[in-house]
Amino acid sequence: MICIAIANQKGGVGKTTTAINVGTALAATGQRVLLIDLDPQGNASTGLGIGRSDRDRSTYDLLLTDAELEDVAIATKVPRLDIVPATQDLSGAEIELIEFDARTHRLDAAIGRHVAGRWDVVLIDCPPSLGLLTINAMVAAHALLVPLQCEFFALEGLSQLLTTVERIRSRFNPGLSILGVALTMYDRRNRLTDQVSDDVRAVLGKVVFDTVIPRNVRLSEAPSHGVPALIYDYRCAGSEAYIALAREVIDRLPKLKKAA
Ligand SMILES: Nc1ncnc2c1ncn2[C@@H]1O[C@H](COP(=O)(O)OP(=O)(O)OP(=O)(O)O)[C@@H](O)[C@H]1O
Ligand SMILES: [Mg+2]
Repeated sequence: MICIAIANQKGGVGKTTTAINVGTALAATGQRVLLIDLDPQGNASTGLGIGRSDRDRSTYDLLLTDAELEDVAIATKVPRLDIVPATQDLSGAEIELIEFDARTHRLDAAIGRHVAGRWDVVLIDCPPSLGLLTINAMVAAHALLVPLQCEFFALEGLSQLLTTVERIRSRFNPGLSILGVALTMYDRRNRLTDQVSDDVRAVLGKVVFDTVIPRNVRLSEAPSHGVPALIYDYRCAGSEAYIALAREVIDRLPKLKKAA
């Protein structure tokens, strides 16, 4: 089982949209996927049609109690895609976790305890911060997928993220790698975004996925219908881009598996 955290402490860069749609595309290729919603906002849960009343057990239970992954995961409407939903309680978890000695390893331990073989890929949708929740994700993950919005300050903040990754590597998780950086919300009509995407590629090189996710209104409409864009409108430019991105993710998985 490969565990990928989708992280960037910047808000609104496309983490959740990427988690939902890459998860759906991976499931469509036959992978059994578990999405862990690690954001108190619960956007991944809502975007996959999990109502508040369906969230009896959540990521909070996984982190703060001895609940097993199998007990808290529920099926979504997408075949082969399960989710551990998030509730508001999770916003208190960062403080409550301080009580635990192994507070950075709670998620890692929960994933490690699970019965092997049920899921092929675990995706973790991180909140927009580098706090204890995201640190738990980085300790548990084999690799990070970093969505980066095509905007003027795209690279600002990335160095902070990479410093955190370096710290996690040296202290807790030496194998943590960067699966890739995905450029999101690319706007063809805006020359600046071209410039940004060129700059990002010049600085980061091959770690940047070839696929660029365009700004596409269908991607932003889908969550209010409680379905992934890939189901809402599988032929829109956004869905096509996420299918292409998932293909690149699949191409990069064998390297991770070897290291894992
Ligand atoms: N490519 C896109 N084109 C148009 N709208 C998008 C695109 N990607 C995401 N959005 C919209 O932008 C907003 C932010 O996206 P999303 O929730 O995926 O970001 P996030 O990084 O998870 O945010 P947060 O940091 O708050 O968790 C959402 O309303 C989403 O529907
Ligand atoms: Mg989000």
